[in-house]
Amino acid sequence: MHDCHREISRWLEPLGVKVRIDSAGNLRAVYAATEPDAPRLLIGSHLDTVPNAGAYDGILGVVVAIRLLEELQGRKLPFAIEVLGFSEEEGVRFGTPFIGSRALVGRLDQELLDAQDAQGISVRKAIENFGLNPLNISQAALENDTLGYLEFHIEQGPILESLHQPLAAVEAIAGQSRLEITFSGRANHAGTTPMHLRRDAIAGAAEWIGRVERAAQAVPGLVATVGRIDAKPGAANVIAGEVRLTLDIRHSSDDSRTRAAGGLIWEAQDIAARRGLSLRESTLLSQRAVAMEPFLTEQIEHAILKTGCKPHRMVSGAGHDAMILAEKVPAAMIFLRTPGGISHDPAESVAAEDVEKAIQCGLHLLDQLAASPEFHKSPTFTKG
Ligand code: GLV
Ligand code: MN
Ligand code: MN
Repeated sequence: MHDCHREISRWLEPLGVKVRIDSAGNLRAVYAATEPDAPRLLIGSHLDTVPNAGAYDGILGVVVAIRLLEELQGRKLPFAIEVLGFSEEEGVRFGTPFIGSRALVGRLDQELLDAQDAQGISVRKAIENFGLNPLNISQAALENDTLGYLEFHIEQGPILESLHQPLAAVEAIAGQSRLEITFSGRANHAGTTPMHLRRDAIAGAAEWIGRVERAAQAVPGLVATVGRIDAKPGAANVIAGEVRLTLDIRHSSDDSRTRAAGGLIWEAQDIAARRGLSLRESTLLSQRAVAMEPFLTEQIEHAILKTGCKPHRMVSGAGHDAMILAEKVPAAMIFLRTPGGISHDPAESVAAEDVEKAIQCGLHLLDQLAASPEFHKSPTFTKG
């Protein structure tokens, strides 16, 4: 991440902007406005990624933001533009996503700072190891001169491709829960322990994984994933004594999501009780669904129209920093078509022509917002 920050800073320096890394590890760079005390518009996305990832999820939104500043060629707008490259959006290391953006809305709290990675290193310690001071997290908070947040991102799904459209305006982002479930049984010899005397944590976990898939198939719009499973001690001739799994569960309705998550915890308890296993579960995230801000979303649609494309509106199944920023400031997103709908995989890609359209859309959008006193003059537009 240090290398990534260095490289991005190298791209930003010719634009005359000063780059800083805030105490949550977010890269931040402000491009000045016509007036020194003008408010600011945020444009960004995340710089972290998943294991064996593609090259565009997150970083493309930061690259597009920088390109927009380059395209302005020194032209100043009635608002400053702060480019943001968020840290730890995916939740790979600590199980909890959106750590960087949570610092901006004042939600990187003590509990989250104490969360540990698989090596027992806390978020707090990781921040220190990176060379930053976790005591200064509050300095990462949004300034009250913030007009809004825009995020360009690949769709990460097949919808725009099926519609033959390069861009979409996001109207809402589905809520998501992330849980860690541990089945504990009794490790024992695989050759000598009769089947009816086993307390096999893997067999219990496997039964539950099947239930997870069936539960999601039964509810329209519900998606549920067990993406990770660690079994101990992990040998062919030993019955597993402990299995830790993750559950990621999402729906555009918070009610449907929380009901399904509750039902699956109940099923895990039932399986554990029947098999003589014990169960621990912890909820690492329960993030509600979030609507994008209507004025900005309409402006995005106008801007997409100006690029000669049809503005599709859609709900995002993927989570984004925009859903965290939306707690405090108007937030909106622009999606780019994702070939084959493939993401979180090295085959993830994007067409250069679609990126070109996104940049054109962004420039139209900046001009529209600059010409709209309702946007940059009205103090009521900024949420507290
Ligand atoms: C972010 O990529 C997510 O998991 O939605
Ligand atoms: Mn991702
Ligand atoms: Mn992403």
